[in-house]
Amino acid sequence: MKVRVLAKVFEERDHILVWFKGRPILVVKRPEGLYAMDAVCAHMGCALLTEVDGYYAVCPAHKAKYDIRTGEMVERPVVRPEVPCEFEDVRPPLRTYKARISDDGFLDISDF
Ligand code: FES
Repeated sequence: MKVRVLAKVFEERDHILVWFKGRPILVVKRPEGLYAMDAVCAHMGCALLTEVDGYYAVCPAHKAKYDIRTGEMVERPVVRPEVPCEFEDVRPPLRTYKARISDDGFLDISDF
């Protein structure tokens, strides 16, 4: 399913937030291709967008760290890690998606 975002956006930045099937998705460009993962932290539900470094996204709220390739939480929150996310369908590992650039230059996201 194409999201109406021109792939040219990755000429200026290496990660963006898009909506796919009503969910916020973090899409990250790496040298070998694109990775896409739910952009809601499984701790308390904050947005994962602002801190992306290489293959990792860090939640700005309490520093839970996620591997964008697998959605796994590789480092737990530094504050009250036992508190579960209030969104029942948001649990680690976060859902990941296939992301690619389509022939007409738009971002194309699909389920695995
Ligand atoms: S909400 Fe993400 S680490 Fe707490």
